[in-house]
Amino acid sequence: MSAALAAGVAVGAAMRSVRDALREAGADDPALDARILTLEAAGLDATAFARDPDAPLSAQAAARIADWTARRAAGEPVWRILGAREFRGLRFALSPATLEPRPDTETLVELALAEPAAGPEARVLDLGTGTGCILLALLHELPDARGLGVDRSSEAAATARANARALGLADRAAFVVGDWGAALAGTFDLVVSNPPYIPDGDIDGLGREVREHDPRLALAGGADGLEAYRTILAQAPGLLAPGGALVVEYGVGQGESIRALAEAFGLERAGSARDLGGVERAASFRPAPDRRFATRE
Ligand SMILES: C[S@@+](CC[C@H](N)C(=O)[O-])C[C@H]1O[C@@H](n2cnc3c(N)ncnc32)[C@H](O)[C@@H]1O
Repeated sequence: MSAALAAGVAVGAAMRSVRDALREAGADDPALDARILTLEAAGLDATAFARDPDAPLSAQAAARIADWTARRAAGEPVWRILGAREFRGLRFALSPATLEPRPDTETLVELALAEPAAGPEARVLDLGTGTGCILLALLHELPDARGLGVDRSSEAAATARANARALGLADRAAFVVGDWGAALAGTFDLVVSNPPYIPDGDIDGLGREVREHDPRLALAGGADGLEAYRTILAQAPGLLAPGGALVVEYGVGQGESIRALAEAFGLERAGSARDLGGVERAASFRPAPDRRFATRE
């Protein structure tokens, strides 16, 4: 499946041709995909396109559109094709080892920013950092904050490091390879995490775009989807500075189990947030009053 395009064809006409090819291939939202791919290939933003939808495509742009349309028609997600995705208005490069940042995860960032611990000079720890989107979005908002991102994948840590450089945040962000907080010394005002939470048995039933293009290490949460939380919630009291907070994202319907686990580790829920679909998907926790003496300086 491809959109055969000649150099010189108008951008708007190319976009319609891509849309038709993607509709025929069964894409969920062919018009939106066609718009994103065509404008990116043509190097145009929405304003430039609105001003001149009949601008001619270069031969190079036409060839790129044909290639991208064929890949999209074969099931590759738009953002994987482009190699980057926007998160809170910032652009994050992707690699095969990183999850595509999801708009719903912006909810976690909002909840973290609402915590009293999110002061301008906060020290932030992001467990399972992937592209670095959560940590770097927080550092972007908190001008003097510093942060550490941890990932089990060295390729993901390298991608996050490159994203920090591209966003001008490399002097305030470091990335290391690790197993959650196991090897870390010191404490943090905010510990944030969007760990893998899909029950292993559900992975084969996920949509093809997720199953085939997001890394399994970013998805698989063990038999019940809660394996990573057991470790992170156990480690959190020792990683939090006095007054600090843990903020985690989780899957649909996992909130109560995570709250019970957190309580077992001496953490009480301070707040929760709903995703863009109105479903509770993130919560913040602080050491329960009788446990606060147990946090490290
Ligand atoms: C759901 S993804 C989230 C990525 C990113 N924070 C985001 O929100 O887009 C979970 C991340 O946890 C990492 N991960 C999985 N197991 C880990 C472990 N034991 N220690 C540290 N990171 C781990 C994965 O490589 C992946 O990058």
